[in-house]
Amino acid sequence: MIVGIERADDAGVYKISDEVALIQTIDFFTPIVDDPYWFGQIAAANALSDVYAMGGRPLTAMNVVCFPIKEMPLTILQEILRGGLDKIKEAEAVLVGGHSVEDPELKYGLSVTGIVHPERVIRNQGARPGDRLVLSKPLGTGIINTAIKGGLAGEGTIGKVIKTMATLNREASEVMQQVGVNACTDVTGFGLLGHLCEMVEGSDVGVTIYASRVPYFPEAEEFAKMGLVPGGTYRNREFREQMVNLHPEIPPWLVDILFDAQTSGGLLISVPDERAEELLAKLRERGVKAVLIGEVTQEHRGEIEVRP
Ligand code: CO
Ligand code: CO
Ligand code: CO
Repeated sequence: MIVGIERADDAGVYKISDEVALIQTIDFFTPIVDDPYWFGQIAAANALSDVYAMGGRPLTAMNVVCFPIKEMPLTILQEILRGGLDKIKEAEAVLVGGHSVEDPELKYGLSVTGIVHPERVIRNQGARPGDRLVLSKPLGTGIINTAIKGGLAGEGTIGKVIKTMATLNREASEVMQQVGVNACTDVTGFGLLGHLCEMVEGSDVGVTIYASRVPYFPEAEEFAKMGLVPGGTYRNREFREQMVNLHPEIPPWLVDILFDAQTSGGLLISVPDERAEELLAKLRERGVKAVLIGEVTQEHRGEIEVRP
């Protein structure tokens, strides 16, 4: 066992030879958008992301389905599965099976198996003082999904956010593997600050984040100011408040965005300073709009400092 359950990492990693380690992960959830085909794509991209966050390559996937067969037409499930399959194909993995149960609440996701060289596993811990922190997708999807559910988001906003959530972290992962980085995780349910806490918890490094550099969907500001913030975001803040030092100039709506529970968020990468420019340039070359948001420090160990 290379990475087990004690580490709160993105996936389990098990070495099977000197050349190959297996990465295993599972993720599924209730619909976040109305369109079943897009929901399938987002759920699959989200599940595949944990393999990418470990620096691996997905090989096989299995569908996990909970479906209210008596209340919903089967065509909806077919569209969800079609969306999932399209993402599995895009990842150059194969669908090998799955399992479905009858459930009053629809849920879908994947169990994914990937591979990685045992010496090239990228953990969520391992960041070194002087590292730069790079984020590969904008924040705010949790807040905007809440607005979508409330019927308050416009078509343009919905389309933009859906596309971002359905985008694989494949390009970002391949580039970071090429360049060589010290740590990585994907930003999902705990929000940017929650996942940063996991990166530094119990370690001998701290992190400084510059709030003004963190990318987010501009609509998230407007919706956060209206109070359209998912419960998970508040729970993230309560849970991690002790570890996070927020500068008093940072407005409450921005704090909400920094803690916002993401669906299929981007990769959060800790890269050595001397490779940061190369990483950013190569990411942009591949169409990934990654941004440098902060750095790893020797000071305030185990804590996150958020500056304006
Ligand atoms: Co993850
Ligand atoms: Co996960
Ligand atoms: Co990782």
